[in-house]
Amino acid sequence: MKIILVNSSPNKNGCTFRALQEMKNVFDQEGVISEIFWLGNDGIRGCIGCGKCLSTGRCIFNDKVNEFLEKAQTADAFVFGSPVHFANISANLSAFMDRAFYGKTRIFAHKPACGIISARRSGTTASLEAINKYFTISQMPIASSVYWNAVHGKTPADVEQDQEGLQTVRVLAKNLVWLTRCIKEAKIAPPDSEVPIKTNFIR
Ligand SMILES: Cc1cc2nc3c(=O)[nH]c(=O)nc-3n(C[C@H](O)[C@H](O)[C@H](O)COP(=O)(O)O)c2cc1C
Repeated sequence: MKIILVNSSPNKNGCTFRALQEMKNVFDQEGVISEIFWLGNDGIRGCIGCGKCLSTGRCIFNDKVNEFLEKAQTADAFVFGSPVHFANISANLSAFMDRAFYGKTRIFAHKPACGIISARRSGTTASLEAINKYFTISQMPIASSVYWNAVHGKTPADVEQDQEGLQTVRVLAKNLVWLTRCIKEAKIAPPDSEVPIKTNFIR
């Protein structure tokens, strides 16, 4: 079983990383292979809507998105972490998820996932919702916790003091492992998919 944790913060070892590390510790304890995948600081460009990925399964821009898609094929579950930037997810994560998820349902369908947010003060639930929207259009089961998935702080040392936030993150990690194990070990085939209908609201 393999889980990929995406860190979309510009701070490689910042607050988002601290939250992801708390989850990774749980995965290690549970004997689950996991990897923190940092998006870096070179800037993730947005989707240009060329649609090439619909036939190739890859983005025409060969960057972190394709690197991630390659790993995602064999991953069983995903965590997407973001700092709050102006009450929303980071611009990097928004661009990254647009390009990683567009037309790629077959890579993600029926694989569990969750988001995790770090904020100094507010905008956490709106940001978590933004991440969840990619899952709910991709047939992905969502793991949850005892509170909305967030830690608070401006520095990792602040996050260390957010004991409730860190507990929420640990429970989230345990639930993600449990959900993924249930799905993998049950060996029940997912439902047949229908041929997609696209109406675009044009008469
Ligand atoms: C451009 C920018 C916008 C931010 N906007 C918010 C915000 O709307 N609400 C908030 O609580 N914190 C905001 N913050 C603070 C970060 O969300 C917070 O410090 C977070 O924990 C940083 O995580 P990181 O260390 O992983 O980058 C903002 C930070 C930056 C750089």
